[in-house]
Amino acid sequence: NKEIKIGLLGCGTVGSGVYKILEGNADSISKKSGAKLVVNKILVKDKTEPLVVDVNKDLLTENFEDVLNDSEIEIVVEVIGGVNPARDFVLRSLKSGRSVISANKELIAKHGEELLAAAEENEVDFYFEASVGGGIPIISPLKEDLAGNKITKVMGIVNGTTNYILTKMDQEGAEFDTVLKKAQELGYAEADPTSDIEGYDAAYKLAILASIAFESRVNIDDVYMEGITKITKEDITYARELGYKLKLLAIGKQNEGIELRVHPTFLPKEHPLAKVDDVFNAIFIEGDAIGEAMFYGPGAGQMPTGSAIVGDVIAAARNINYGAQGRIACTCFDQKEVKNREE
Ligand code: NDP
Ligand code: HSE
Repeated sequence: NKEIKIGLLGCGTVGSGVYKILEGNADSISKKSGAKLVVNKILVKDKTEPLVVDVNKDLLTENFEDVLNDSEIEIVVEVIGGVNPARDFVLRSLKSGRSVISANKELIAKHGEELLAAAEENEVDFYFEASVGGGIPIISPLKEDLAGNKITKVMGIVNGTTNYILTKMDQEGAEFDTVLKKAQELGYAEADPTSDIEGYDAAYKLAILASIAFESRVNIDDVYMEGITKITKEDITYARELGYKLKLLAIGKQNEGIELRVHPTFLPKEHPLAKVDDVFNAIFIEGDAIGEAMFYGPGAGQMPTGSAIVGDVIAAARNINYGAQGRIACTCFDQKEVKNREE
């Protein structure tokens, strides 16, 4: 059986999940991808720092050039987060002929067009299923299974940390700061959780979803954004007393124009999205052919996110192994005007 070598950039919450799945499910993954998938290098900041997963220390490097110069590596997995140096690492990996898998919504929302173009130019894959909805398959269904539709709505709960906070404040009367700390300990929050609680993370995800669903180049500045930092326990209590739940929603609509908003919303407690609690996410899609569909599952965390990444790694490995051509960018980047409703 052929071996396909992987360079893992980052070994925090998600990187360690990827490593565990590749090791733990190696036999089944090998059958599905037609190759034995082997991590050959792991980029970390400091080799002396303990890792949350037990890895062969010989794989560790603090220098990205070691990954780039490892001619055996054919797939690079970027899970360091942020734009710099991730953008440089991803671009150079693609330009060197490696397929790249990333979970980095900020990078993809801001530079997806450039990265997809580099992948297409170099005839390699650039996949990012884990960037939206954690473990939920949503990018691939939008690009492939639902490609025959004209999508008119993409709406849902796309941030696990804030949904976890709102749920615990509602169900247990917990304090915002205490639950945020817990979400960080559980590996749900971003390295800088401001991105979660101020709505940036959800806005990046909405920009990615809308770009694909609405065949458009959505700029992150086009998304109206309001986080949950101003929500008090009283707001949540009043909502409950009136039969509502407060949820941070990401809403994308395409009619004559495109409308993109992230903000806390009162939902009647019978609404399907009102029943999505804890770290779970749900994304509701409306298309002219399918009608309505909803995707539900764990929106963050080590293993669910690892699951989405390894699925992409297997797809890229199959393409390498069998020379398959899944490599045209499935996203159109037409510039369309975004017009949000007056708040
Ligand atoms: P972590 O902070 O847990 O892991 C990132 C790791 O990368 C850290 O160990 C960090 O080291 C390391 N790192 C950062 N910069 C460098 C660098 N230049 N060279 C080498 N190592 C570096 O984050 P997560 O694993 O949670 O997230 C990773 C990515 O996955 C992010 O883009 C995030 O948005 C995305 N994601 C996360 C999900 C989750 O549930 N956590 C879900 C979906 C996507 P140090 O800690 O020392 O800075
Ligand atoms: N911080 C993100 C969240 C991770 O809480 O949803 C998953 O993208």
